[in-house]
Amino acid sequence: MKKNFLLIVLLAVVFGVMPAMAQRADYRIIPTPKSVEVDTLQYFTLAEGMGIAYDADNEEVARNAQFLSEWVEQATGIKLALTPNDKKAVIRMSLGFAADKKLAKDATLTEQQQEAYTINVDKNGVLIEARNPVGLFRAAQTLRKSMPILKKGEGKVDMPYVKIQDEPRFVYRGTLLDCGRHFFTVDVIKQMLDVMALHGCNQFHWHLTEDQGWRFEVKSMPNLALHGSVRQETVVGPNVGIYDGQPYGGYYTQEECRDVVRYAAERYINVVPEIDLPGHMQSALHVFPHLGCTGGPYPVRTYWGVSREVLCGGNPETMTFLKTVLGELCDVFPSKIIHIGGDECPKNRWKECPKCQAKIKELGLVDDGKHSPENQLQSYINKEVEAFLAERGRDIIGWDEILEGGLSGKSIIMSWRGTKGGVEAAKQGHRVIMSPNVYGYIDHPQLKDVAKQPRTTGGYIVSASKMYSFEPLMKEELNEEQQDYILGVQANLWTEHVAYPEHLFYQLLPRLGAMSEVQWCLPEQKDFEDFKNRLPRLKKLYDLLGVKYCTGIE
Ligand code: ACM
Ligand code: ZN
Repeated sequence: MKKNFLLIVLLAVVFGVMPAMAQRADYRIIPTPKSVEVDTLQYFTLAEGMGIAYDADNEEVARNAQFLSEWVEQATGIKLALTPNDKKAVIRMSLGFAADKKLAKDATLTEQQQEAYTINVDKNGVLIEARNPVGLFRAAQTLRKSMPILKKGEGKVDMPYVKIQDEPRFVYRGTLLDCGRHFFTVDVIKQMLDVMALHGCNQFHWHLTEDQGWRFEVKSMPNLALHGSVRQETVVGPNVGIYDGQPYGGYYTQEECRDVVRYAAERYINVVPEIDLPGHMQSALHVFPHLGCTGGPYPVRTYWGVSREVLCGGNPETMTFLKTVLGELCDVFPSKIIHIGGDECPKNRWKECPKCQAKIKELGLVDDGKHSPENQLQSYINKEVEAFLAERGRDIIGWDEILEGGLSGKSIIMSWRGTKGGVEAAKQGHRVIMSPNVYGYIDHPQLKDVAKQPRTTGGYIVSASKMYSFEPLMKEELNEEQQDYILGVQANLWTEHVAYPEHLFYQLLPRLGAMSEVQWCLPEQKDFEDFKNRLPRLKKLYDLLGVKYCTGIE
């Protein structure tokens, strides 16, 4: 009897006699919001033609209303109307937390609180509130991820009544893309920014220069990008001496960089540009061999690993070169923080170079038992660069090697060789971003069966679960005051073995989902099994966006 009834219902639906049931929204998204109080027994039904009200005079708010309408349509096919200033609209985006005095109170707010938002769904519809437009953007992403993916014309979504309150845990939530080893077009960068924004990331660390390619146009030195961006060939796979014989190149014009900055800013992502110095500079030395200790010639490097050819630390023209590059960089990138690299700068050449040794003597640098004279010379360059950037209102970030010559002023440390450098810097009162290789290097494979995946950097060290387990505050080693120096966390995608966009997204996803919960959620909210249960819905969105991802998860 029951079976017959089901069959009749099914036939009725198939032949259009009965309307299909609306599908439900599901607020169990990635990353998990701070608080979700849902009443699954009552719901508001979202349908075609309903309006979104917002303050049309506020350009940012208007853009976020447009995003919400696009994203809901993309997922569900439901077209919401943009009806600014319509008091009767059922979806309302509003600044100010009008109904909640506690949230509206203007105490000294953290930057994370500036991103806060609430969503209330009840019989009146959907009310989205935030202090700032960025909060409305975050709320729109949350609604987007809560939507079922429908075929066009299915038409309705039942939204269970809910009160969501949310804000991120960390102020810095980053992802690095290495465009030096391989070049990715502006369109691919924009797609990556969309994916980052979907995960609540707010910092795009753009690694723009490498031994294997210079990617940033410097207008006053046109040959730098023109010739520094092209290597004659590329080693095939790891460094086993087989080359493809194909010239490889590409660089970003300043106009393209500005376009990326603009696109990112509309998605509340800051672009942190990196000029890696004084090592990882062989592509620049190719164009300006007099800036190397030996005078060259230097080819743009065609294989991987660390080059011993670095900028000469004793040649005054090195500083002139760096200031020219960084001056133009500041014109293009408004970021308050500029990454100056500093990693993997072998000192072999400096030890033998008369100019470097003369500079060491002139500065009176001697081995103090902690810092070698050559490491102190690197520190001297950093301080010069830091002062130059400070005049332009910028602070420097460097990889943890910059600790080795002694740190100065306001420099921020990016801890990559594990967490040790980050802990040390926080103890010294420096701000820190954690991107330890063993938890955050997504150039490594994410599944144990390495042979079945695209070739990547060796070593199965960063599965999604490993990444998910990372706790950045290092509570065992840092007291509360020191923990305050940890600004956040970053995943790094190095691209020695990542040459195509499909592979880029495969390396990134779904690990960026795991990383997003490290960046956004409190430790007590995290649960990897639960994360895995929420993932299939996010993957449907990846499908919709047309980005590749790793289907397995370990
Ligand atoms: C790095 O991975 N060399 C920062
Ligand atoms: Zn030198």
